[in-house]
Formats: sequence, structure tokens, C-alpha cells
Amino acid sequence: MRRVQDFDEEMARKAVSTSKVIKLATVKASKSAKTSKAVTKPVYVLNGPNLNLLGLREPEIYGNTTLAGIEKLVATAAKARGVNVLCLQSNHEGELVTWIQEARSMASGLIINPAAYAHTSIAIHDALAMLDIPVVEVHISNVHKREEFRHYSYVSSVVTGVICGLGVKGYTLALDAILADLSK
Ligand code: DQA
Repeated sequence: MRRVQDFDEEMARKAVSTSKVIKLATVKASKSAKTSKAVTKPVYVLNGPNLNLLGLREPEIYGNTTLAGIEKLVATAAKARGVNVLCLQSNHEGELVTWIQEARSMASGLIINPAAYAHTSIAIHDALAMLDIPVVEVHISNVHKREEFRHYSYVSSVVTGVICGLGVKGYTLALDAILADLSK
């Protein structure tokens, strides 16, 4: 478990209580930033398998930004918007399912890059279908320009929206989409 900063000891403790955290980054929202209406719980940012190797992994497809770089990007954007984020990464399907289940009560919204599990996981589909918060699926690459097996996502039918092919900026765009949804 790695905690970068903490925003709320109790919330972070509860969030990790049922699972082993591979990576956890929380950031205290800036007091001076305008706090978005009613966003008291963090936005979960979940990254799936092999995304821990971003930066090294096929940079011609995924670019040079590391996972830590993405987490910093999204945490900085969240701080400027007065909200908290909780960033987690796992290579294990069940662990992602557990975090999605936790998000039902612990999160205001959820950003998920399910990576290859988008194309295979009915378990992640089922877990997301139980959520009643805005959820954005993010893919760094444009999966529709790539191999045919990447064209179908089991996740897309149970999320609020999908961002793909816009690089790592997709994560901050997803955050803004979630905050816009929550302020409706
Ligand atoms: C990905 C696209 C997936 O097809 C792939 O398996 C990944 C990364 C993306 O962010 O572009 O691991 O989700």
C-alpha cells in the first residue's frame, strides 16, 4: 500500500479495508478552490492490468506518461476543483470488482480504465451495473482503430460515458464530466 497524501484517514482506511491496495493516492482538496456542489466523497480512479507499466509499455501507443504521472495529473485537477480523488491500480479482476463495490457507498463518482478487462470481464460489468453514481470509462488509445478484439467493451453499456483515444487527458476530461453530472 502506498499513500501519497491523505484527505480523510477514516475514509481511506475504510476504502482499503476489504482489499490489498496496490496503489493508493489521495489528495487533500485545496481549501481555496471552489468546492463542487455536494461532492463530499472522493472520485475513485481505477486502473486495470498492465497500466502500472505505462511509460515503459508500448509508448508508441500509450505515450510516455507513467501511471504515477496520470495520478498526479488527475489529483492536481481534482484539487483545483475542490474535490478529492482516490487512485487505485490492480492487475487482478477480483480486486477491481471489490473496489467498484466499495465505490457504491464510498465514492461520488468513478473513473475506470479497465484496460484489457474491458474486452473480457462480465464480473466488472456486473459490479458497475450496481453503481448509482456517474462513471466514465477511459481508454488512453483509440481502441476502435486497433485490433478487432478491442472494439467491444463489456463496460461501455453500464457507464455514463466513454472517453477513448485522447491520451492521458482522458482522465481529467472524465473528472470534469463527472463533476458536471454531479452538479446537475
Ligand atoms: C487500454 C486499451 C485496452 O485495449 C488495453 O488492453 C489496455 C489499455 C487503453 O487505455 O488504451 O491495456 O485500456
